[in-house]
Amino acid sequence: MNQPITAYYPSNIALVKYWGKRDNQLPCNASLSMTLSNARTAVKLYRTEKQDRGIAFSYYFEGRQNEAFRQKVLRYLLGQKEFSDLLNNYAIRIESENSFPHSAGIASSASAFAAIAAAFLKASGTAEDHFTREASRLARLGSGSACRSFFGPFSLWGRLEEVAGSSDDFAIPVLQIHECFQNMRDTILIVEDRPKAVSSSRGHALMEDHPLAKARFQQADNHCKDLLFALKSGDFDAFISITEREALSLHAMMMTSGDYYLLVKPATIQIIEQVFRFRKETGLPICFSLDAGPNVHLLYPESIRDKVDSFIKNNIKSGLKFVVYDQAGTGGTVF
Ligand code: PMV
Repeated sequence: MNQPITAYYPSNIALVKYWGKRDNQLPCNASLSMTLSNARTAVKLYRTEKQDRGIAFSYYFEGRQNEAFRQKVLRYLLGQKEFSDLLNNYAIRIESENSFPHSAGIASSASAFAAIAAAFLKASGTAEDHFTREASRLARLGSGSACRSFFGPFSLWGRLEEVAGSSDDFAIPVLQIHECFQNMRDTILIVEDRPKAVSSSRGHALMEDHPLAKARFQQADNHCKDLLFALKSGDFDAFISITEREALSLHAMMMTSGDYYLLVKPATIQIIEQVFRFRKETGLPICFSLDAGPNVHLLYPESIRDKVDSFIKNNIKSGLKFVVYDQAGTGGTVF
């Protein structure tokens, strides 16, 4: 087989959440995330020229052919005119692997679609100067949050009048970051490693006629603006309150939608209360975030890593299945 195109792209954790979409995967509000580093997807794209016009596409996930992923990814690829020459003229084989455990509270669709979009765009021969922006836009069409995985340590997606260059179509890097946010860690406390009961697609759809939608979208845009200012000025207290309010607001949306549901578990609440207590007692800059699931992301600067390790060891006793250690990263690479 000829030399593959290889793409490594990380996942990200939204500090301000994207929850609710319109038209073709456009967000109802702006979102701001921290890019991860260890949690990433590696995609290898092999292509061999073919004569007939039919599609020849195979998908291997962690060494085995995966029909469900093949169909999902092929549907996505067929929807993008940028990839049609490639699909029509080549037999394509994708090999994809994640560096992190399945259902570990890490958005695998974000790293996977970032890597897939980047690999296909590279294989299609797009001009280098627009590459990252175009890859971010195409990744967004696979999974909204994937568009933020191209930049780090922080990335903004969604048009905000006050932020030059911001767009609903693709993410942009957050450029002004105070020293105190330069070396952030994300330690993920896994309380549940089974797939969640309600998918994020369903959650997004439930925002369409959610009675609190308008206020929620406004809140998220305001949180993005406030968080951008906090990241720039080094205001850790503001970072903490925005990040935690966002996590709870996301879950409040689930609990108050037409078809209401709950993804947090008793252990999630217990850990959140321990974080509140630990912060109050020590004054240390640590906070939690939640993705659309019960696992708790602990966010803090590298400088307090030892103290956080002891906190986890000494205080989080029940309900914890395992711990995933990660830190802020700078995005991915494709070659
Ligand atoms: O990118 P999607 O469609 O899987 O949605 C992601 C939704 C959240 O992870 C809950 C929030 C976010 O902004 O990443």
